[in-house]
Amino acid sequence: MDNKSDAKVTPWEVEGIVDYDKLIVEFGVKKVSTREHYLTESITGELHPLLKRGVFYAHRDYDVFLEKYESGESTALYTGRGPSGYVHLGHILPWIFTKWLQDKLNIDLFFEFTDDEKFLYHREYTLDYVRNVTRENILDLISLGFDPKRTHIIIDIEDISYLYELAVRIAKKITFSTIKAVMGFTQSTNIGMIFYPTLQIAVCFLPTELYGRQTYVLIPAAIDQDPYWRLARDIATSLGYPKPAQIHAKFLPGLGIGGKMSSSQPETAIFMTDSPEDVKRKIMNAYTGGQPTAELQRKLGGNPDICPVFKYYEMMFEDDDKKLKERYMDCRGGNLLCGPCKSELANRIISFLEEHQKKRESMRDKIDEYLLRNKF
Ligand code: TYM
Repeated sequence: MDNKSDAKVTPWEVEGIVDYDKLIVEFGVKKVSTREHYLTESITGELHPLLKRGVFYAHRDYDVFLEKYESGESTALYTGRGPSGYVHLGHILPWIFTKWLQDKLNIDLFFEFTDDEKFLYHREYTLDYVRNVTRENILDLISLGFDPKRTHIIIDIEDISYLYELAVRIAKKITFSTIKAVMGFTQSTNIGMIFYPTLQIAVCFLPTELYGRQTYVLIPAAIDQDPYWRLARDIATSLGYPKPAQIHAKFLPGLGIGGKMSSSQPETAIFMTDSPEDVKRKIMNAYTGGQPTAELQRKLGGNPDICPVFKYYEMMFEDDDKKLKERYMDCRGGNLLCGPCKSELANRIISFLEEHQKKRESMRDKIDEYLLRNKF
């Protein structure tokens, strides 16, 4: 059996239709099972829909992390963002789950903004550009309601003194051939990108340094970031740190055929800053699992399994399991047409974004409360 997914999934690109089961084998991660669901529920008292519905579907040592947490060991959460442009709905999916975990576990979150990564990766970006985008992206993050006392934002270029010592110790453990193979770098990759992974890995070990005790870190993110964690886990023990654990999400799809929601295809992505008109236009133009005509749809029914519009309900915009199931069955049975299904989704997204955008503006003078440098 060929276990390689036909799609391309790297930290910088996701192309094609992703076979998530194949990725489990390819990346060497484990499927989230009823055991992890049970452990989560016994600690938090409930299962977040993103776990229950299998959106967070793969992991490394998520169970070990929960057991360490339960036995009173020092634990922390870590996730991040590469500030390349406006934040879209796909980016906030792991943040919504991270916030839920933070609320339930009442532990610190370390959040890295990799302004260096995006400056190095995109030939045309200036340092001023990534600095401004970082500030704008922070607004989207903190507007989701993260607790400022427990949420510590680190911005690579501005806060390098927290990371550099860790980064050089990490760099000494990773050879050029390893980084080339794991990250897919080529002879023409600039040398900044070759060093950069040390900084994304460094934050896995930072809580142990800052707290002065062995700290078990859990990273909730989409599965595209996995190569970093493979490297981090390989070298953790030899550097004297616990291996970081991960819980991996599937991607929120774009509004076209296949692929993840991505800023490089703005007409198929919903940005947190989009106007109601933008949302309406993009959703109404979305690809669906529907039939070419209303008549055929009534006769044959649609296919919610391949429909990004249905996925948006499932992954973000319908928490009620019963209502989600009804929508699924109504689509399959031809009782629900794509027009009304899309227009309801557009309305839900518009009211979500209206709230978010109001909050976002009110957070402009709150950024300092979240910066790690003001607390450690
Ligand atoms: P970035 O900015 O590409 O992505 C930020 C977060 O969003 C996730 N993501 C998605 N999740 C669901 N559906 C999508 N369509 C989608 N697109 C992106 C990513 O997996 C990520 O969790 N190098 C990183 C920044 C970083 C980081 C980290 C990310 C630094 N440290 C620790 C996660 C964890 C980056 O450029 O992410």
